[in-house]
Amino acid sequence: MKLKRIVLGVTGGVAAYKAAELARLLVKDGIDVQVVMSAAARHFVGAATFQALTGHPVFSDLWDDRVDNGMAHIDLTRGADAILVAPASADFLAKLAQGRADDLLSTLCLARDCPLLVAPAMNRQMWEAPATQRNVAQLSSDGVTVLGPDSGEQACGEVGFGRMLEPEALLDALDARFQPKRFSGLKVVITAGPTFETIDAVRGITNPSSGKMGYAVARAALEAGAEVTLISGRTCLPPPRDARFMPVMSAQDMLVAVEAVIDTADIFISVAAVADYYVLNPSEQKIKKDAHILTLELAPNPDILASISSRPKPPFCVGFAAESENIEEYAELKRRRKHLPLIVANDVKEAVGSDDVRLVLLDEAGRHVLEKADKQTQARLLVAHIAELYNTRNQ
Ligand code: C5P
Repeated sequence: MKLKRIVLGVTGGVAAYKAAELARLLVKDGIDVQVVMSAAARHFVGAATFQALTGHPVFSDLWDDRVDNGMAHIDLTRGADAILVAPASADFLAKLAQGRADDLLSTLCLARDCPLLVAPAMNRQMWEAPATQRNVAQLSSDGVTVLGPDSGEQACGEVGFGRMLEPEALLDALDARFQPKRFSGLKVVITAGPTFETIDAVRGITNPSSGKMGYAVARAALEAGAEVTLISGRTCLPPPRDARFMPVMSAQDMLVAVEAVIDTADIFISVAAVADYYVLNPSEQKIKKDAHILTLELAPNPDILASISSRPKPPFCVGFAAESENIEEYAELKRRRKHLPLIVANDVKEAVGSDDVRLVLLDEAGRHVLEKADKQTQARLLVAHIAELYNTRNQ
């Protein structure tokens, strides 16, 4: 579902000034924004600001007679795809949790038939108060999406949790929430990050893969409604909250983890940078330095992706190929050798560890270029492409 129309609720808090920037970004994104302010919000920012930014009059009063049939509490959310309350004050969260409806915004929230998202913003002690935590837990279990809060310096000078997420982050969260559910009902297994092959108690062979692309693909698959298992080598990234997370070290560990879950998977996306070799006889103790040449005996690792794609009934397999030269040619050779319906080619110099990347998708129909963009955007486009191929194959 594409987000086309939103009611932006603004309640009383210093962060209300950031809601103006959020309204601007939403409008810039092509979304029709109707602002509804609480009475307290008007102490922090003027309605004229929102009116100018959104091109719509701002409403606050339950008894406003500017709405034709006198039913502002119903009419304003009619046709809206979502209500986002940002900032959501402690008092407003309490009101929502109790289902109270004593002003226009709380009444709209109660009388809605669209998703409700809230971005809490308050002093850290107000946020940590048992009553607020109770209210937030209640709202989550009622199906309300709680975005943030962030931690950091607060307007009151204290430091802690309670800052509203920045407008850009809220826009990203909305974007994620309203991605089309292309993977609905599908189980997706994703490998990510580097592998680590032990040499001795403190050393190993690894590579500079950051895991960013694989984690972005996992998030995009979750947004698209999939049940996701993320099998990851060591990275510095937090695992996506709703994924089943299986941390691994070596290629052999990764293979074991993949084999444990792949039987029921519909789609396998192999993003991991798997080491091609492992050390035959790793030392349990730290190898002592001496003047002699040290020889490591290396043996080839299993090819995880090839072993899955060559099964009699494989899931839909997608590979990644990071190359330093003849990128598309080498990637296409790998796609054929590993019997993959789709491989994603990228330039190793540009892709490893970076935030932005250019991708070329190679499939039976040819090449599809995804011009340089951030990895999350690319992951969403990749998910859309996989869904198309997957659906065609299963029709
Ligand atoms: O390393 P290579 O370029 O062959 O990687 C191509 C694809 O195969 C990638 O998707 C990678 O995750 C996968 N692969 C694997 N096991 C290996 C080597 C690569 O699953 N041992």
